[in-house]
Amino acid sequence: MLANAKINLHLHITGRAENGYHFLDSLVAFTSLCDDINIEPSDRFKLNISGLTSLSSACSEQDNLISRVTHLLSDHIGIAPHVDIHLLKKIPLAGGLGGGSADAAATLLLLKDLWHIKSDDVLEKIAASLGSDIVACLYNSPVIMRETGNKILAAPKMPKLYGLLVNPNAASPTPAVYRAYAQSQRPFSDTIVFPDQFYSAKELCAFLKEQTRNDLTDAAITIAPEIKTVLNALDQLPNNLLARLSGSGATCFALFDNEEDAQRGYEIIKKNHPYFWVETVLINHHS
Ligand code: C5P
Repeated sequence: MLANAKINLHLHITGRAENGYHFLDSLVAFTSLCDDINIEPSDRFKLNISGLTSLSSACSEQDNLISRVTHLLSDHIGIAPHVDIHLLKKIPLAGGLGGGSADAAATLLLLKDLWHIKSDDVLEKIAASLGSDIVACLYNSPVIMRETGNKILAAPKMPKLYGLLVNPNAASPTPAVYRAYAQSQRPFSDTIVFPDQFYSAKELCAFLKEQTRNDLTDAAITIAPEIKTVLNALDQLPNNLLARLSGSGATCFALFDNEEDAQRGYEIIKKNHPYFWVETVLINHHS
């Protein structure tokens, strides 16, 4: 099963909960960049990871969200967690693309089939208990996230977009970015009321540019100053409709209404910044 990376087309911080978590308003879209997960019955639990090599050292098997959701679900329904899980990792880790959350959501959906679980309620409960993006990833189609990420609303209908994802190979850990945001004492933003449908990439991006932001941008730049370089480089790409940070970073995206402009952007960034991680993607690829 493919586990697609998400981007936050906007991310407003709208308040703060008593437990220190922040309330959000975020339109989330999914990209064609994905990890691949397969699960087979076995006589014990085993997780194999291949692909991006830094992953296995960066997160121990126990901390890996895939292991955690598997064990929580098996405890909940009383079935031994005896499965072989194969993860082919292509989404950069801790990059604002929700890769770990997408993997966790895909695992829950695969186990639901394997273990013949009828209702989605338990999946949503486990997803919500482990991280703010996992519930949205269960949908794997555009949604609006509210509250701490666990309340999901229908997204406007959106056209396909062509995107360029760029990560400066810098770490901007989510807890540190939220801490820097809280220290900055910025006023909270409003939630956005979207129209039911955007008919073109230009219309969508003009709306996002005029009415929305990613409120974590300045905080993320204090943690990973390279983000500023990426945003400046993306802003200057010919025909880009919107350049912005995704989530808490450090991956940024630029949006285009055709593949040629996205590919031209890829070549410009690769030439000027050979050490950045760069990918062209389709966004809303199912629409
Ligand atoms: O849910 P996730 O694992 O992505 O969150 C990591 C950290 O980011 C949390 O421990 C919290 O400090 C911060 N966070 C927050 N408000 C949110 C989501 C995350 O303050 N809605």
